[in-house]
Amino acid sequence: MKSEKAEPARIVVLISGSGSNMQAIAESCAKKELDGEIVAVISNRPEVMGLQRAKEFEIATDVVDHTEFSSREEFDANLIRAIDEHTPDLVVLAGFMRILTSDFVRRYKGRMLNIHPSLLPKYKGLNTHQRALDAGDKEAGVTVHFVSEDLDGGANIIQAVVPVLDDDDEGTLRSRVQIQEHVIYPIAVKWFVEGRLSLNKGDAYFDDKPLPIQGLQLK
Ligand code: GRF
Repeated sequence: MKSEKAEPARIVVLISGSGSNMQAIAESCAKKELDGEIVAVISNRPEVMGLQRAKEFEIATDVVDHTEFSSREEFDANLIRAIDEHTPDLVVLAGFMRILTSDFVRRYKGRMLNIHPSLLPKYKGLNTHQRALDAGDKEAGVTVHFVSEDLDGGANIIQAVVPVLDDDDEGTLRSRVQIQEHVIYPIAVKWFVEGRLSLNKGDAYFDDKPLPIQGLQLK
């Protein structure tokens, strides 16, 4: 992307809550670790902490409140309008807790990333940390992946692996994983804006080479 234009890549971040991943990416942009700019943070919930964090970074914010629409299609159409106003190169889902329609996913295919707190393809969906604990897993982690129409099923880009400790509960495991979320999401965004990542026929490529199923793994 960088080679095609002089301006930093335009990033729109979608959130539903605390926005700590958005902040990690915003900090990376501010430090010029990646040649991108978060041009808008859009939340489907009003008054979440992530909107406050965005304002502290002087990032434009918007709310498209899903409760104001009678169907998923109508919500997504309005969300598309709000996103496209900012002509993004990349759409980043960062704790965005809505299931998206196929039309929405197709529109941003190959330029929309998500972060999911498990070692995908393990534990798609919710309660990932408790499920890893219940299964007696020795390792847990987090994955950044391209978004596809299959929920949490798009091609993996990067994973961070953390140990599960004997005395872990959901909270301690979540905290350990979240530290890594804030490491790998800015890395994935950096790779994207440098034009090193692509999606081809559902597979993720890094520097034109297919990535392994789990993505690149940081241990
Ligand atoms: C993170 O744990 C992320 O993995 C999951 O939702 C959470 C968002 O946290 N998808 P935050 O809003 O970025 O603080």
